[in-house]
Amino acid sequence: MVDEYGMNFQFSVRRIFTESDEVWVEAELLLHCRPGVLKGAVIMNVWDERYAGEAYHFGTEPNAFLRTQERLLKPGMTCLAVADGEGRNGVWLAEQGLMVRSVDSSTVALKKAQALARQRGVAVAFELADLMCWDWGVARYDVVVGIFIQFAAPAVREQMFTHIKRSLKPGGLLLLQGYTPRQLEFKTGGPALVENLYTEAMLRAAFADMDILHLREHDDRIEEGAGHSGMSALIDLVARKP
Ligand SMILES: C[S@@+](CC[C@H](N)C(=O)[O-])C[C@H]1O[C@@H](n2cnc3c(N)ncnc32)[C@H](O)[C@@H]1O
Repeated sequence: MVDEYGMNFQFSVRRIFTESDEVWVEAELLLHCRPGVLKGAVIMNVWDERYAGEAYHFGTEPNAFLRTQERLLKPGMTCLAVADGEGRNGVWLAEQGLMVRSVDSSTVALKKAQALARQRGVAVAFELADLMCWDWGVARYDVVVGIFIQFAAPAVREQMFTHIKRSLKPGGLLLLQGYTPRQLEFKTGGPALVENLYTEAMLRAAFADMDILHLREHDDRIEEGAGHSGMSALIDLVARKP
C-alpha cells in the first residue's frame, strides 16, 4: 500500500471501522514493503499515537549516552540519525555542527522534530521513510546514530545492521544504545519483546567486522520524557568501520 506521502506499507489489519462517514483501518505496520494503493482509509501508525499531544514523548534533550560521545563528533561530519523520532538527538547533533539526515516513519514525530529544529535554529534534513524500504546509500555517513531502535525483530534487525554498516564511510562511527533483556524486569521503557533486545555477545557478533571501541552493559537511571523513565538495563556500543 502507498499512503498520501508516497510511503509503501505492508500491514496487518487490527480492525476496520467508520467515523464521520470515513472508513478507517487500524493496522499494525510490518516492516517489509510491497507496492499497492491505499484509498479511502487511513493507516494509523502506533508511533503516531504515542507521539500525539504537545509533550515530546522522549523529551527534547539528547540521549545521555550520545552526549558522552561528544568528543568524537566534529563539525561538518555527515550523520544519519536512524529512527530519530521527535528529533531530540538529530537536532542536538546538528547543534554540534554535524550535517544531519534524520529519518523516521512517524508523520507526527516528523512535524514535532521539524518544530524543534526551527526552535533551536538548526537545519536538519528530515525524511519520512520506512527504513526497511529506504535507500540507505553506501559509504555516505561519517556517523550513524541509533538510539533505541529496537522496534526491529531479529530478521529485520539483521538487515538494518547491514544497511548501517554499508552506509558508513570507511573510518565512520556507529553510536548505538539499546536495552538488554534485564529491561523486561525494570519495565521503564522499550519493547516487551525479548528477541528485540540486545546482549553484549549479540552486538559483538553482529559488528565483528567493525572495530569495537566501546561495548558496555550497565544499569542506570534515565529520564527521557514519559517514554523512558527510571532505572534501565542499557547497552552502549561505539564501533568504527575499518
Ligand atoms: C523508541 S523510538 C526512538 C526515537 C528516537 N531514536 C529517540 O531516541 O528519541 C523508536 C522510533 O522508531 C521509529 N520507527 C519504527 N519503525 C520504523 C521504521 N520501519 N522505519 C523508520 N522508523 C521507524 C518510530 O517511529 C519511533 O520514532
